[in-house]
Amino acid sequence: MPALATSVPQHIHEELTMAERGGLLTFLLLGLFLGLAGSSPPPEPVECAHGTSDCTVTNVYGSFPDRTVCRAANATFPRTEEELVAAVAAAAAAKRKVKVATRHSHSFTKLACPGGRDGTIISTKRLNKTVSLDAAKGLMTVESGMVLKDLIQAAAEAGLALPHSPYWYGVTIGGLLATGAHGSSLWGKGSAVHEYIVGMRIVTPALASQGFAVVRELSVGDPDLDAVKVSLGVLGVVSQVTLALQPMFKRSVTFETRDDMDLPAQAAVWGRLHEFGDMAWLPWQGKVIYRKDNRVPVSTKGHGLNDYLGYRSNPTLALITDRATEERLEEDNSDIARCLAARVPSALFELQGYGFTNDGSFFTGWPVIGFQNRIQASGTCISSPEDGLLSTCTWDPRIRSPFFYSSSFSIALSKAPSFIAEMQKLRDLKPCAFCGLDATLGVLLRYVKASSAYLGKSEDSIDFDFTYYRSYTQGEPRANSDVVDELEQLALCKYDAVPHWGKNRNFAFDGVIAKYPKAAEFLKVKARYDPDGIFSSEWSDQVLGAKGSSNMAEKSCGIEGICICSDDSHCAPEKGYFCHPGKVFTDARVCSTRRTFGDDLLKEQ
Ligand SMILES: Cc1cc2nc3c(=O)[nH]c(=O)nc-3n(C[C@H](O)[C@H](O)[C@H](O)COP(=O)(O)OP(=O)(O)OC[C@H]3O[C@@H](n4cnc5c(N)ncnc54)[C@H](O)[C@@H]3O)c2cc1C
Ligand SMILES: *[C@@H]1O[C@H](CO)[C@@H](O)[C@H](O)[C@H]1NC(C)=O
Ligand SMILES: *[C@@H]1O[C@H](CO)[C@@H](O)[C@H](O)[C@H]1NC(C)=O
Repeated sequence: MPALATSVPQHIHEELTMAERGGLLTFLLLGLFLGLAGSSPPPEPVECAHGTSDCTVTNVYGSFPDRTVCRAANATFPRTEEELVAAVAAAAAAKRKVKVATRHSHSFTKLACPGGRDGTIISTKRLNKTVSLDAAKGLMTVESGMVLKDLIQAAAEAGLALPHSPYWYGVTIGGLLATGAHGSSLWGKGSAVHEYIVGMRIVTPALASQGFAVVRELSVGDPDLDAVKVSLGVLGVVSQVTLALQPMFKRSVTFETRDDMDLPAQAAVWGRLHEFGDMAWLPWQGKVIYRKDNRVPVSTKGHGLNDYLGYRSNPTLALITDRATEERLEEDNSDIARCLAARVPSALFELQGYGFTNDGSFFTGWPVIGFQNRIQASGTCISSPEDGLLSTCTWDPRIRSPFFYSSSFSIALSKAPSFIAEMQKLRDLKPCAFCGLDATLGVLLRYVKASSAYLGKSEDSIDFDFTYYRSYTQGEPRANSDVVDELEQLALCKYDAVPHWGKNRNFAFDGVIAKYPKAAEFLKVKARYDPDGIFSSEWSDQVLGAKGSSNMAEKSCGIEGICICSDDSHCAPEKGYFCHPGKVFTDARVCSTRRTFGDDLLKEQ
């Protein structure tokens, strides 16, 4: 902290008011330096007004990208596969819409919402047991509602490791598979969890003569497995999953910060050099935090632990203060103050080894060496006992906590270097517009391999992942939103990026299905498994290109990320935000206050 303060010129320093500094300080002191023990678990995503009827379902942030509330007539919580079959049969017999909700529902996108308003929610929160485990063969079968944390632990107790996973272990195996979730690797089968599936049981609707629902058992070699592995939840309810695991291994992790001049070239090779390599790019500071992360023999000394700072619980008071500071910085519209504040999180995270420790308690320096199950993922904020909301995960919707969008899209490895170079060009035009990304620890670049899954990646890719400020007020412009919007359109429109199914704002999914060469195969399986479309919703129909568009042209839709603006009314003209072309990617259409020659071009068209 002192090092930081002295490196900042006095006049800039004064831009931060006492309140802002106070806010940051509270956050630092309470949130980061006192590793807290207690925390409230996340809220229940499914809430019913009367018993199990008259329900709403939401995600863990309490808000879908379009800010609508999702209603369902009732919810069921099966404990066994028989109960699950009965639940699907009841919905199928009545032709009622149905969707699966999970223990915490971590997807941003509105995937868990049943169609219409009188659908049924089937929660997998009680389907969380290990069904079988064969340590000799390395096979583990679990129920689909099992939380990744529990899965990793159960496997480790038998000496087994899931080689790749998302970095956050609060998700369920059924949910993470449905959205194609991944870690980072180009080695072996790659980083997507669905590559390690060797069997699945899925409950689908069926004819009356079959009792309205059947269990389909799929194993390696069955082409349907390529549909069911990454299903967006539209094929039926996955009951069980069988994973091929590896003998437990150790990893050695080192983070190394360098400048970002050669990032395009490095990104092309880094994933080949390091099995679990990734890169966190801080575009405003012009820095990249390279993750060197490789397997080492189990005999290597070290009992390291990854308890990532961003996934720990924080005192409610600190989170509220932090959000208030963010809101002030937004309102004040001072890039200088925002950029000053933006240095703090990355500096602090670096100082504390990002939450890694060499022995489970102390961070003494890199490398951190430890068992896979202790390094691959974290998320301690989900798992502590109720403490009456004294502390929570950063994004807990029950308090006025930091509220953000999460964008994540993959670009073919062959094209990623030019995308990065164009993004650098945009950054160089207006570096301070990128402070917001630095403040949320930058853009995480991770490797994902080509998959046989119909809705998996069709090519080896780099996934770009970042979060940024979201207003609690609908239609309220964000500072420098034009730059982030241009960046996303550049990726999606020019570089054929595919959005992560569980993240992003709605506009990113417009026409997405055309980017999947095997989409037709997926839709054939969908027609066979769910001919009446009870697992379809308005949102999944839009995403799958069946009906409607995820680009909703309406007032302030460009501000909300539910459309690409094509008219000033899609922005906030009353607040000075108009629909303009991008600065580097001139085909982009973004809401901005800018007045350039581009305006006239657009108006003439
Ligand atoms: C803090 C955080 C960090 C993250 N980190 C990563 C990361 O490192 N890598 C990554 O790829 N993603 C990451 N994600 C995204 C996350 O992996 C996905 O959003 C994931 O799908 C969430 O899983 P869930 O269990 O909460 O599923 P939900 O969001 O509840 O469900 C997702 C979809 O799957 C369906 N579904 C769930 N279970 C079943 C089932 N049994 N049968 C049929 N359909 C089902 C649901 O209906 C829904 O359509 C992160 C998210 C958060 C919040
Ligand atoms: C669910 O709601 C529907 C419509 O309101 C009703 O017909 C059905 O009986 C309910 N089912 C259960 C299990 O409560
Ligand atoms: C299943 O969920 C229950 C209830 O939250 C929990 O107590 C239990 O530990 C979980 N079981 C497993 C195997 O993870």
